[in-house]
Amino acid sequence: MATTDIIEAFKRAGQGHVFAFYDELDTAAREHLLADAAEIDLDETARLHRTLVAGNASAALNFDGLTPAPYEPLPENGGDAAAWAAAKTAGEDALRAGRVAAFVVAGGQGTRLGYDGPKGTYPVTPLKKKTLFQVFAEKIRAAGLHYGKPIHWFIMTSHVNHAATEAFFKQHDWFGLSPSRVHLFRQGRMPAVDPNGKILLETKSSIAMSPDGHGGSLRALQRSGALDIMEREGIDTLSYFQVDNPLIRVIDPAFIGWHLLRRSEMSSKMIPKAYAEEKIGHFCIQNNRLVVVEYSDLPMALQKETDPATGRLRFIAGSIAIHILDTKFIRRMAAGGGDVELPFHRADKKIPTIDAAGNPVKPEKPNGVKFEMFVFDAVPHAKNPVIIETLRANDFSPVKNAAGLDSPKTCCEDQLRQFARWLNANKAPVETDATGLPKITVEVSPLFGYDEDTFAESWNRLPTKPAVADGLYLE
Ligand code: UTP
Repeated sequence: MATTDIIEAFKRAGQGHVFAFYDELDTAAREHLLADAAEIDLDETARLHRTLVAGNASAALNFDGLTPAPYEPLPENGGDAAAWAAAKTAGEDALRAGRVAAFVVAGGQGTRLGYDGPKGTYPVTPLKKKTLFQVFAEKIRAAGLHYGKPIHWFIMTSHVNHAATEAFFKQHDWFGLSPSRVHLFRQGRMPAVDPNGKILLETKSSIAMSPDGHGGSLRALQRSGALDIMEREGIDTLSYFQVDNPLIRVIDPAFIGWHLLRRSEMSSKMIPKAYAEEKIGHFCIQNNRLVVVEYSDLPMALQKETDPATGRLRFIAGSIAIHILDTKFIRRMAAGGGDVELPFHRADKKIPTIDAAGNPVKPEKPNGVKFEMFVFDAVPHAKNPVIIETLRANDFSPVKNAAGLDSPKTCCEDQLRQFARWLNANKAPVETDATGLPKITVEVSPLFGYDEDTFAESWNRLPTKPAVADGLYLE
């Protein structure tokens, strides 16, 4: 679009103030502002303001007829062992055939952790202080070697952290992966608006833009050409995970197999909620559709309800943002149309901006609204969705906060517990406390073992077993 057309379109949409300082900007600054402006869908912004800011969207939440979603329990919790075994075999076949790629969403801002840099570059392991990206890279490399077929890895970054993420991978020589199989692409951005729907300027020459949420991954996979790469490579199944969770089994054959055997378009892992107030989403059924209801949305009375037969929480199935996605489904969701589109959610935030005279303003309370999409909103649109149970200890210990719950400390301890469990299961005794935390610090490289089975294989192959002592590193 020509410069004057962009400016005119903003004026017509009541957003002419975005160009209030345009005349005093130099050429580079003007181009910067125009590039920001060109990314914005003005109709979409107006609609979101109308529906989510001016209208009262939360009043629309309705929990009539909401019931807990069924899931496939683990064999040790009463699940069908033969079905789990068949799923594992089917998943392994798909991995050997090269149908599966790994996909991490790493475009978040990580404000709670307060770390300066892409979150994937944060060190997390107990002994070697490997970064999140290194842990995932080694799991992906190890699984590729295990199945005799290297695995492609798709990484969604944001405008803010893309260059730093790419530089990090280059600096570390792609952690032993072939760069031709690591695909970085940026997610989309959305403008922030004030309560009146006016787009906020960050500076005279830039608009306050932020990533469009992890749900933006579906359209970013399409727009970036990532889905075309997958099609060319014969990949039809994506293993989706978040950048903050090093415990995740990035490649889990049973999960992949459940998804494929059931012809599911989007599958999910659940963990039983630890307590009613735990801040994770809930898998539920409403109007015969699977939905994920956020902890902040589900009334506490429902969260606390128990099943009279078992005494367990009724809405027990917690969502931990681990999914398998079918690539054709992603294309359909990205194309949108009808009610297929992911909805946006609003988040009230303190957004640094400028005043009418162009002076910087650092707000002390929320002054604007950001719009984000959530990937779990795709769940109701998927055919044959499957939910399987997983053990928290095998799949989930995110680094969200600088301290306290879900912090580097809790995550490091959960990794240590996992390494100790694997050693103890293979007759290499490690003394632990009542929570399973070992008294010594040990670390297992994913290249030695990235799950219980691969650890056991490597351990049993060792001609002489090393002494299990403080500082043991298995690689
Ligand atoms: P979180 O909900 O934890 O958000 O993201 P965040 O932005 O990383 O952290 P806070 O809330 O500012 O502290 C969950 C996952 O979704 C990704 C994150 O990178 C993380 O892997 N994400 C989130 C995106 O890729 N893009 C987004 O726009 C938002």
